[in-house]
Amino acid sequence: MSNLFRKKQVGDLLKGKGSVQLKQTLGAFDLIMLGVGAIVGTGIFILPGTVAATHSGPAIVFSFIIAAIVCALAGMCYSEFSTAIPVTGSAYTYGYIVFGEFIAWLVGWALVLEYGLAAASVATGWSSYLISLLEGLNITIPQSLSGPFNPANGTYINLPAVLIVLAISYLLSRGMQESAKINKIMVFVKVGVILLFIVVGVFYVKPDNWQPFMPFGFDGVLAGAALVFFAFLGFDAVSSAAEEVKNPKRNLPIGIIGSLLFCSLLYITISLVMTGIAPYTDLNVGNPVSYVIQLVGQDWIAGVISLGAVTGMMTVILVMLYGGSRLIFAIARDGLLPKVLFKVNAKNQTPVINTWIFGIIVAICAGVIPLSKLAELVNMGTLLAFMIVSIGVIFLRRHKEIPSGGFKVPLFPVLPIMSFFACLFLITQLSIQTWIACGIWICVGIIFYLSYGRKHSHLNR
Ligand code: ALA
Repeated sequence: MSNLFRKKQVGDLLKGKGSVQLKQTLGAFDLIMLGVGAIVGTGIFILPGTVAATHSGPAIVFSFIIAAIVCALAGMCYSEFSTAIPVTGSAYTYGYIVFGEFIAWLVGWALVLEYGLAAASVATGWSSYLISLLEGLNITIPQSLSGPFNPANGTYINLPAVLIVLAISYLLSRGMQESAKINKIMVFVKVGVILLFIVVGVFYVKPDNWQPFMPFGFDGVLAGAALVFFAFLGFDAVSSAAEEVKNPKRNLPIGIIGSLLFCSLLYITISLVMTGIAPYTDLNVGNPVSYVIQLVGQDWIAGVISLGAVTGMMTVILVMLYGGSRLIFAIARDGLLPKVLFKVNAKNQTPVINTWIFGIIVAICAGVIPLSKLAELVNMGTLLAFMIVSIGVIFLRRHKEIPSGGFKVPLFPVLPIMSFFACLFLITQLSIQTWIACGIWICVGIIFYLSYGRKHSHLNR
């Protein structure tokens, strides 16, 4: 039994025992760019439309604000952890230190689900935008190859989604050197088209469309918050860059909280404009941002927006595939997953086999499962990890060997506890199918740990 709760020692991790030291090059601005690159994707280009139409109505703005508050709470807890222990592995490593191996494994297992399904889910969103863009150019992808497996609807596989995941896996398998630069360019494109949408769209807002403001009541707003939570995912990826940050005590919290704030502002504005241009009931489409701009006759701008969305969503797929494969790498390095997953290619120092295995599984999910089902499961996995990080802060403070001076969550311990319960509350808003699917995933994880990880863990040595 005691094996289940054996821990990593903070002192060892801080000394970098047994690990390679990475070069510290990233500043606060780089981190904000990294955060925005990871955060802004399907969440902004699709969810404001679909969730407004089916759950919240124009009050989707409140859903975004609630989700942003929950993320800000969790973001502060992440900041404290990442400045106290600036090592890679994010919530998985934090869990290993404060709660021991079994909880760390569960967090890691939940996060693999987050990263994998988030990548798959954004790939399906990417595919919707690509299909509409191609239609504008009179190129039609056959119906059977344009959506998830659903014979009643005439769709069998989402081929563009499968192909983009495989293409990005290929890119990742060749190494990550240029990624920061490419990421920056794509972030500018992405933010640029969003601002273009807001600046053009605001002239077509008819306040009548905001009536009724809360057609599904406050329950709808809360259910909507649990769904749009997805739009904020990715800020935790900033903390996984911890080892490569200059002056992490100052820059990490600025990076995490700064990117969250910036994205919240964009989301709130875009939802207001979108629900102001068209009645919320019309917004249940695969590409609502360009759709509403088309509605007002600005076809050319709609095309530019679709192109920007297609470019911008690729960074999210990239960061999620990268995050997932590196997390699997870290878990395998600790012995909890088979060795082959932390094999590094001699030529470019990249875990190529792991990248491909992960990429192929994600591609299959992206090809056959519908987006909404994917997004909910992602939220569940992430909220579970956030809960562990939130409550973990309370235990973290008991470790006296951590150097003082890092970021500290204000109002301790009230704020971490609030963060824990806020995440728990959002979990209760998710559908029963999501709970069941997540329960199955966790059971598989527990069986795997008991039959493999426990025996092969390096802490056995
Ligand atoms: N936050 C990411 C997105 O919205 C997952 O696409």
